[in-house]
Amino acid sequence: MNVRFAPDGPLRGTIAVPADKSLSHRAALMAAMTDEPVPITGYLDAADTNSTLDAVAALGALVERRAESLVVRGVGLRAAAPAAAPIDVGNAGTLMRLLPGWLAGQDGGSWTVDGDASIRRRPVDRVAAPLAEMGARIAARDGRFPPFTITGSPLAGIEYELPVASAQVKSCVLLAGLLASGPTTVVEPIPTRDHTERMFAAAGVRIARDGDRITVAAQDELELGPLHVPGDPSSAAFIAAAAVLVPRSRIVLDGMAANWTRTGFFRILQRMGAVVVGPLEERPDGIPDSEPVAEIDVAHGPLVGTTVEPEEVPLAIDELPLVALLGCFAEGTTIVRGAQELRFKESDRIAAVVDGLRGLGATIEATEDGFVVEGDRGLRGGTIDAHGDHRLAMLGAVAGIASREGVEVVGMEAAAVSYPGFEADIAALRS
Ligand code: S3P
Repeated sequence: MNVRFAPDGPLRGTIAVPADKSLSHRAALMAAMTDEPVPITGYLDAADTNSTLDAVAALGALVERRAESLVVRGVGLRAAAPAAAPIDVGNAGTLMRLLPGWLAGQDGGSWTVDGDASIRRRPVDRVAAPLAEMGARIAARDGRFPPFTITGSPLAGIEYELPVASAQVKSCVLLAGLLASGPTTVVEPIPTRDHTERMFAAAGVRIARDGDRITVAAQDELELGPLHVPGDPSSAAFIAAAAVLVPRSRIVLDGMAANWTRTGFFRILQRMGAVVVGPLEERPDGIPDSEPVAEIDVAHGPLVGTTVEPEEVPLAIDELPLVALLGCFAEGTTIVRGAQELRFKESDRIAAVVDGLRGLGATIEATEDGFVVEGDRGLRGGTIDAHGDHRLAMLGAVAGIASREGVEVVGMEAAAVSYPGFEADIAALRS
C-alpha cells in the first residue's frame, strides 16, 4: 500500500501513546509461565504482539480478550504444552529470541519456531550459544537462522557476558535461568532495556543487580499479579519527531513509559535543542518492580547536530532512524556511532535509512556502525520504500510531513506491526 504524506500545518493536541511492544511481549510470555490467571490492561493490539498471544496459546495458555483487559491463563513455569505445528513468530524478533529461553528448560518437549521472510534473515545463534552452554539443544538452519528446533533439557546456570548489547539475548538467558540448577548471571557491559528484570522482581523472582552483573535464581513458580502496559516510547518518538520538525507544533504524549533504558531518544532530542518537558526516569539503584509512566510535552524548535555515542545506542536503538531524519533538519553534523546492531533489525536499518533518506534529498553517509548526516535545514521529498519494516514506514511518513514536497511511502501497511493507529493519530493531531 502506497501512502503519500505531505506538509500540511502543525501537529497540536494530546495523544494516548499506544501500548509498549517490549512490555506487551514480556507480559504475555510471563503470564503464560504463571499458574494463576493474569489480567493485563493496555496490551498492544498489533501484529507483533498478537503473534505472542498466538504463540502462548499454541503452548497451552488460554487467552481471553475482554472489553477492558486481556486475561492469560498460563500453564506454569515447567508445563509448556506440545504444539501441533511450528510456532509462527511472524515478524517478531523479540518473541523469536525470548521464547527459546523458556522452552529450552522444558525437559522432554520439542518445538520448532519459524517466522516471516524478515525473521528468516535474523540471527538466532546469539541466543542459541548461551542456551547450549546451559545444556539446551537447538538446531537452526545453517546453524544461525530460523526455522529452528528446541529440544527441552535440564539446564545448569552459567555466567554469560553479552557479546552484543542486546536486551533480547539478556532476557532469553534470564528466562532460562528461572529453570536452571544454580544461579545464572548475565554480564551486561552496556545497559539495555531492563523490562524483564523489573517484571521478574514484580513476580517475586529472586533477582539482583550488582553493577553490570544481573543474577537470577531458579524458581518454583512465578507469582504475577495484574499487569498494566504503559505507552511505547519508541512509537511516541515518531509523533515527537514530527512535532519537533513542523513549525508551530505542540503535542502531549500521555501515558508514556519513562523507563530510563527506553528514553534515550528524548534525551538526544533535548540535546539537539528541542523542547521536551516531562519527568524522564533517572537511572535507579537496583531493580525496581514497576515501570514509571509520564506525560511528555514536545514543541517545535530549531535543532543542532549531535553525536550519539555507543553507550547511548541501546537506550535509543529503535529510534536511531529518527535521529538521522532530525539530523537532516539540524544545523551542523549529526553522527551515530557503535550502532552496528541496526544491521540485524527488521531490515538492515543502516542501509535502508541511508538509501531512503538520500532518495529524499538528504546528505547522509553510511558507516560500518552508524551514519553521518550533514544538516541541510530540510528535505525535498520523493518516494521511500519501507522494505517491510514498520519503523521505516513511519520514518517515511514523518519525513513527508516535514519535507517541502511530500513523501510517498511504499509499503505503509508495515506500520501495523507496532503502531496500527499511527496514521489516525497523525491525522487527529493535524485536524
Ligand atoms: C527489544 C530489544 C531491542 C529492540 C527490539 C525490542 C526487546 O533489540 O531493538 O525492538 O523487547 O527486548 P536488541 O535487544 O536485540 O537490540
